[in-house]
Amino acid sequence: MNVVGISGSPRINGNTSYLIDQALEEIKTFGIDTELVHLSRCKISDCIGCEGCRHTYACVIQDDMQKLYPLLEKADAIIVGSPTYFYDVTALMKAFLDRLYCWEAFDDDDRSVWMSVNEALGGKLAAVISVCEQTRAEDTGHAAMTMQLTLQSLGYRVTDCAEVINLFAKNEAGDNVAAIQQARSLGQKLAKTMLLKNTIRSKYTGPAE
Ligand SMILES: Cc1cc2nc3c(=O)[nH]c(=O)nc-3n(C[C@H](O)[C@H](O)[C@H](O)COP(=O)(O)O)c2cc1C
Repeated sequence: MNVVGISGSPRINGNTSYLIDQALEEIKTFGIDTELVHLSRCKISDCIGCEGCRHTYACVIQDDMQKLYPLLEKADAIIVGSPTYFYDVTALMKAFLDRLYCWEAFDDDDRSVWMSVNEALGGKLAAVISVCEQTRAEDTGHAAMTMQLTLQSLGYRVTDCAEVINLFAKNEAGDNVAAIQQARSLGQKLAKTMLLKNTIRSKYTGPAE
């Protein structure tokens, strides 16, 4: 089993990456493999709404998303994290989420009938982390919600959504016990849910490979 973390922060060693990494460290203690992707190291163009993916479920834009699609397809779960930029996710994170549009399928004649590829194939898990500087939860705005709703529409069961407040400077998260605890418990819950899924599957269909 493996979990891929996706950081939408332009700061490689910033708070978001640190907290996703803390969640992944917790997950490793359950014997689950992990990997962290920094979107700021990737070239990801905006979705252009060309509908080139309509019947193939594959995006036609040739950039670093073509490396991320197979990584995400293979992952049993993902952790998606973004700093709050003006009450929402960063542009990097939004571009990444929009490019997952190719995994939505629609009835040819009635677009109110739709289903994601993940939903059709079944069983993907996700968790969300948003980070903000201010000390009131409302100052994080829609950041967590943007990630959660998008992932849910893409067929991910979102096990947890941590809205981490009161982190401004690049390295602050490392000294913030409450923030680390939030990330660690998010990781633990995701790992336990993955193991529960395996238990259920093996009872019904035999042990997983
Ligand atoms: C362009 C920009 C917009 C921001 N908007 C908000 C905001 O709306 N609310 C907030 O609490 N913090 C805001 N912040 C602060 C960041 O969310 C905060 O510094 C966060 O810790 C950065 O995470 P990182 O270290 O992972 O990059 C903003 C920062 C920038 C650069």
